[in-house]
Amino acid sequence: MEKKSFYITTPIYYPSDNLHIGHAYTTTIADAMARYKRIAGYDVLFLTGSDEHGQKIQRKAAEQNVTPIEYVDKIVASFQHLWEKLNISHDDFIRTTEERHHEVVQAIFQKIYDQGDIYKAAYEGRYCTPCETFWVERQLVDGKCPDCGRTVEVVQEESYFFRMSKYQDRLLSYIEENPDFIQPSSRRNEMINFIKGGLEDLCVSRTTFDWGIPVPFDTKHVVYVWFDALTNYITAAGYLDDRDKFSKFWPADIHLVGKEIVRFHSIIWPVILMALDIEVPKKVYGHGWLIMEGDKMSKSKGNVIDPLVLIEEFGPDAIRYFLLREITLGQDGNFSREALINRMNADLANDLGNLLHRSLSMIGRFNGGIIEAAGDVEGIDQELTELAQNTVIQYEKFMDDMDINAAIKAVWTLIGRTNKYIDETGPWALAKDEAKRGRLNTVLYNLAETLRIVSILIYPLMPVTAPKIWAQLGIDSDFGAVSLTDAKGWGKLPGGTKVGALEPLFPRVEDKPVEAVAPVIEPVKTKAQSTAESASDMPEVTIEDFAKMDLRVVKVLAAEKVAKADKLLKLTVDLGTEERTIISGIAKHYAPEELVGKDVVMIINLKPAKIRGIESRGMVLAASCGEKLALVTAAEMVPGSRVK
Ligand code: ME8
Ligand code: MG
Repeated sequence: MEKKSFYITTPIYYPSDNLHIGHAYTTTIADAMARYKRIAGYDVLFLTGSDEHGQKIQRKAAEQNVTPIEYVDKIVASFQHLWEKLNISHDDFIRTTEERHHEVVQAIFQKIYDQGDIYKAAYEGRYCTPCETFWVERQLVDGKCPDCGRTVEVVQEESYFFRMSKYQDRLLSYIEENPDFIQPSSRRNEMINFIKGGLEDLCVSRTTFDWGIPVPFDTKHVVYVWFDALTNYITAAGYLDDRDKFSKFWPADIHLVGKEIVRFHSIIWPVILMALDIEVPKKVYGHGWLIMEGDKMSKSKGNVIDPLVLIEEFGPDAIRYFLLREITLGQDGNFSREALINRMNADLANDLGNLLHRSLSMIGRFNGGIIEAAGDVEGIDQELTELAQNTVIQYEKFMDDMDINAAIKAVWTLIGRTNKYIDETGPWALAKDEAKRGRLNTVLYNLAETLRIVSILIYPLMPVTAPKIWAQLGIDSDFGAVSLTDAKGWGKLPGGTKVGALEPLFPRVEDKPVEAVAPVIEPVKTKAQSTAESASDMPEVTIEDFAKMDLRVVKVLAAEKVAKADKLLKLTVDLGTEERTIISGIAKHYAPEELVGKDVVMIINLKPAKIRGIESRGMVLAASCGEKLALVTAAEMVPGSRVK
């Protein structure tokens, strides 16, 4: 049986400047969808490219005293370099300056002209060069471009016009009958209103510059850049040169675009296709903007973030994960370095990284690095395996609906539950009892199997990390051949697998410390303060002094009395990555049983001390007042979490 096909596109970006993180955002979403569909068994065509003609590019080149093609060649190379660094898996990269595209644009222009839907007339109106958009006087807002607010130019020239008006009713009923065509639905309503306001015939040629594709029958005109650009989607699908490919992939499944160009894709483009008697794309998805300090990130505003710099600093997977997880698809989202680092530390280093590290280090310590087949199964195991299987089902549904945020959340719920499963089953305790070997093997197997499933699900988001997990688990089949089916059905990881070398996936990121800000307003002294001066009777320390203490949340695994010492308890604690023994002077306040399972705060880089012949490596923190004492706790935090 022929495989199902999936065709997804990004906008073809203008090489008027280097790309910024906003462009990387669109392309990452498209890449995640393309990778997902590939592992789900589809034949995928994933297209991106560059939109190289038009007045804006011609002017940029002139400013730099180079020819337009010299100018675009250089910038397009930087696009391709960026996509390589971000692990974008496009199947084709189309440049509108290519011959294959030139031919298609001329052929369709001719065809539409021959059938009478393109005609010549005098044009008089306004033009926004940054947007490459025609406007009529009444559409302007305060005399400026209604889309970007910039100054427009007066254009007066003989032009060819495309009879859009003729298709108005057909387009409107198409949009009304296909509620999924324009997504999200808020954008759909905007478009419906726009069309109801009346479609003007569109000016589709220019004569005042020559950087474009000549109109075949009147070569002093070049084809309007949007007419040229939109056509890229059929050129690359083989419209003229590969009928089989075209019938396989057309109509496109998703044109993914930023919200500012939904109008071009859901009005102009469908009308061009209707005029050509070609099917209309299945979906135009208009995502939101990345915002910096409340303003759309854009080259002309100079508030852009260079994705290459971020990739260099944090690696491609962390950036991809952040963009896909943090920003709700369809809505605008803030980009901030702080939010990126928070996500990296919480979701990647802590949740995912710790799960892998804890699981593999226990398999190493307790079972010599072998993932033994599972033994006895209890309710708690069943609950985990069912959650894992349900997660795959939910994930698939969310990804098919392009609800990438929800798909990721589902995977992280599974990761969180699995971390908790470690705490609840306590493999370190099982390992001490030979009679519990079957249980221990079950728990360790379930951890490895969950991680195997997680690695498949995160592959579309983090294509570098997924095979790394696979390798650390010691799975010897080729990750390149992995499919979503491999995540379905519990227990596909063969027992007896020997784990690979353990390496941290995502080290924690400590951002450069923010300068301590001096208070601007003198604090008013209270009565108590003016006599005591300060609540502390200790010398002042700097933030750097404080930062030297490595404070962590640890879980108490075991507690027992120390012989002949009525104040001391010997505690075994889990740091997430290792177990430690410490001696604590809290026996008067806590019974050993009360402590087991508690998440407490410990300084882990305290110089070791021998107490009653036992080496104590660390100290738990407690508050005390007179006879009273209470341990500082951090319930529900993963062992190893930093306290600061
Ligand atoms: O419009 N947030 O190209 P372009 C999110 N050549 N996405 C952003 C963004 C931001 N701040 N800034 C840009 C063009 N984008 C035409 C397209 S298609 C036939 C022709 C992304 O270089 C988003 O996808 O101005 C937006 O639609 C696209 O870049 C615009 O890129
Ligand atoms: Mg733009």
